[in-house]
Amino acid sequence: MKNIGALNIPELCGNFDKALLQKAAAQFGTPLYVYDLDRITAKYEQLKLAFGGRKAMICYALKANSNLSVIKKMASLESGADCVSLGEIKRAILGGIPKYKIIYSGVGKQEFEIKETLKLGILFINIESKEEMLLVESCAKELGIPARISVRVNPDIDPQTHPYISTGLKENKFGVNLEEAKGIYLYAHNSPYLEPIGIHFHIGSQLTKLKPVSESAQKIAQLTHSLLALKMDIKFFDIGGGIGITYSDETTINPYDYAQAILEELRGLDLTIICEPGRFIVGNSGVFLTKVLYQKEHQGKRFVIVDGAMNDLIRPSLYNAYHQIVPLNAELQETTSADVVGPVCESGDYLGKNISLPPLQSGDILAVLSSGAYGFSMSSNYNTRPRSAEVAIEKGEARLIRRRENFEDLIALEKDYL
Ligand code: LLP
Repeated sequence: MKNIGALNIPELCGNFDKALLQKAAAQFGTPLYVYDLDRITAKYEQLKLAFGGRKAMICYALKANSNLSVIKKMASLESGADCVSLGEIKRAILGGIPKYKIIYSGVGKQEFEIKETLKLGILFINIESKEEMLLVESCAKELGIPARISVRVNPDIDPQTHPYISTGLKENKFGVNLEEAKGIYLYAHNSPYLEPIGIHFHIGSQLTKLKPVSESAQKIAQLTHSLLALKMDIKFFDIGGGIGITYSDETTINPYDYAQAILEELRGLDLTIICEPGRFIVGNSGVFLTKVLYQKEHQGKRFVIVDGAMNDLIRPSLYNAYHQIVPLNAELQETTSADVVGPVCESGDYLGKNISLPPLQSGDILAVLSSGAYGFSMSSNYNTRPRSAEVAIEKGEARLIRRRENFEDLIALEKDYL
């Protein structure tokens, strides 16, 4: 059982003020996502500073949290965007990210997405297979728009994270091996329709150890040297995302050490570093608020039933991920262990297991911490549950940035077919 009282809640909660969260829950209802935009700014600046005077560009990974107001905040900080679908690219543009700062990754890009991307003129497309490269070439030829590309190289290095979010091992579907990558670069270099300008790797998410990152950077830097020797004009060294955050008491990668490790491997290479953080920027900048509905005990086991569920925050059910849960209006004394569960019709519907909680009453609000990344963006309408509202806090003021869905929204695309 985790003892939440001993943990550093201010770090996990960002600048959140419990009274402000309580007020937001009363004003906007629950379940509710709340993001602290000032903390998002601080995390971005922290990473930017870590790369110091080096040529570096941060391309925020939209998949972590793609609310337009969050993207707009990132754009105001001069961030670029890492996108995994045409939809995300359109969101990035709508949020104000310049097209020349957008990169497009993903194993299953479709022809219409590739063509649209070429027309939009984004920075580059990360190629994930030889077949995909051939499709990008034919789209570029048809449109008469040469395609700027980078190749996602799979360095076959164990990132030492959860297997579901590990991407840089040869058994993972992502990227191509070093040998194949070289073949793709040679082909692209000789094609009038392809311009290889970058090299990319991303070994996994929630990385807490630096060594796998620097080992990967070393392998990819070696390949880059050989491409440059062949007179290829590689300008960007894209190190992906993945910096882990603290969910409970784990120590994770320090951004300064991270930047130093990459710079060390890049000695002698004059390239612009691209970094694609998602969770690092938004993870601990968001909380999920949920209201206690009922409590019960089964043979000595305590259940706290709340109005938020796996459809709102799926990480605990999907990855057995731990999120700290704290009541907003109760002291953390005299706690007992409880499972915090939602109304969805699945035994796997829980937000936390064996969480120390004080005596609670229905109507009390619980804050599920570190929920700013892969929270709302992975939510669904399972059990015909409207998705939560989202609220931003900036300079002590809370404002709605996505209204709560209603039943009408949920049936809108079906009712005309009755
Ligand atoms: N770049 C690429 C190519 C990626 O695939 C990802 C994440 C990122 C950047 C951003 O990674 P981050 O900095 O956020 O770790 N749903 C999972 C995480 C999946 C990550 C997928 N790719 C979770 O909730 O833990």
